[in-house]
Amino acid sequence: MNPLNHVAIIMDGNGRWGLKYKNSRNAGHKEGLKAVERIIKVSIEQKIKFLTLYAFSTENWKRPKKEITYLFNLLQKFLTDRLEDINRQKIKIKILGYKRFSLKLNRLLNLAEKKTCKNTKLQINLALNYGSKTEIIHALKKISKSNCKINENNLEKFLQTKNIPDPDLLIRTGSTQRLSNFLLWQLAYSEIFFEKKLWPAFNEKDYKKIIKKFKNIKRNFGKI
Ligand code: FPP
Repeated sequence: MNPLNHVAIIMDGNGRWGLKYKNSRNAGHKEGLKAVERIIKVSIEQKIKFLTLYAFSTENWKRPKKEITYLFNLLQKFLTDRLEDINRQKIKIKILGYKRFSLKLNRLLNLAEKKTCKNTKLQINLALNYGSKTEIIHALKKISKSNCKINENNLEKFLQTKNIPDPDLLIRTGSTQRLSNFLLWQLAYSEIFFEKKLWPAFNEKDYKKIIKKFKNIKRNFGKI
């Protein structure tokens, strides 16, 4: 059985779920947060050590301002209400992406990282204002200014995922089958599961079913 150390998720389908059931895209984001809580709980039960969630891409800035504001307010409220509990559960929060938000949210994200930095139960990497192409370009700029030889190992030291093992498993909900500029380098050998359900409808059972399938895959990493 394959060990499962790192799960990455593209949480797609909030907008469609919200429009279908509540006539509001934002209601879908609110419900999506409940799915986040469910998946964190199962990840801990399954002894997964890293969970990377794609919460806001560099391309998501093209959305209407009202939706962007709603998403960041939701995140702000979530962290304000739940940070103590997250810390008590020994969860470490790490932000992937550049913190270019309001002063208040930037401070809260820094606080969440600082407060939880020594926790070891589960590391949640929250990809916010994250874009993989930008990450790789920044890494290349930094490595070329350094004395390091350009090779895979050294380049990884300049990615935002430094010290984080590559995802074993990528899940994308919402029927769409693409990577959307998410962890393009890091997903080179990950097993990918595309799930039809929209993110707010994704539940514990769905997640455990994928984990079970993943554990039984023969992973060759190029060998036979
Ligand atoms: C993609 O669905 C989802 C997002 C861009 C935001 C993800 C946010 C959450 C799950 C809730 C907040 C999370 C945290 C961690 C506070 P979409 O809106 O692109 O859906 P669509 O494809 O149906 O339009």
